[in-house]
Amino acid sequence: MKKTKNKDESRRSFLKKVTRWSMLAALFSQGFVYIRTLFPNVLYERPRRYKIGLPEQFIAGVSFLDKHSVYIFKEQNKFHAISAICSHLGCTVKYATLNRAKIVNIGGEDITMMGEFHCPCHGSKFYENGKNFEGPAPTPLEWYDISIAPDDGQLVVDVAKKVNQDFRLIV
Ligand code: FES
Repeated sequence: MKKTKNKDESRRSFLKKVTRWSMLAALFSQGFVYIRTLFPNVLYERPRRYKIGLPEQFIAGVSFLDKHSVYIFKEQNKFHAISAICSHLGCTVKYATLNRAKIVNIGGEDITMMGEFHCPCHGSKFYENGKNFEGPAPTPLEWYDISIAPDDGQLVVDVAKKVNQDFRLIV
C-alpha cells in the first residue's frame, strides 16, 4: 500500500515537472518570437545613384557594368545608359555585336543597329536601343539618366530617373 502511494507521488511529481518545463519552453519560444520581431531583416538594395568612373576611362562602344547591371554606351563624347535587366522577369540580358549592321525601321525611322540584347532565360530580344522585338518581354529595356558629378567629374548613373531613347550626355 505504501509502495503504491510512493509510486503515485513520484509519478505526480514527474508530471508536474514535465508540465512546468513545457510551460517554460512555450513561454521562452513566444518571448523569442516577440523579441525577434523587434529586429526586422535588413534588405540590402542596390544604390539608386552611383558613380561609375571618369568618361575617359570608358572605351568607345559598349561597356557592361556587372555590379550595377547596366550597359554604358560611348559614341565619341556622348554617353547613354541602358538597363541590363530584362523587362520580362528580371534576368540579365547579354549584348551581342552583330556580324554586320542591321537597319531597323522603328516608328517610321530607319535606325542602324550594331548589336542586340538577348535574354538567356526565355529568349527575349531587344534592339540596341532597348526596344523589345522578340520573346515574352513586354516592354523595352529602361534608359537611365547619366550625368557628371560636380565634385570629381565622374559619370553618375541615376536608376531612379528614367530618360527617353533620344537622351545623350555630352561631355
Ligand atoms: Fe528575360 Fe524572361 S526574363 S525573357
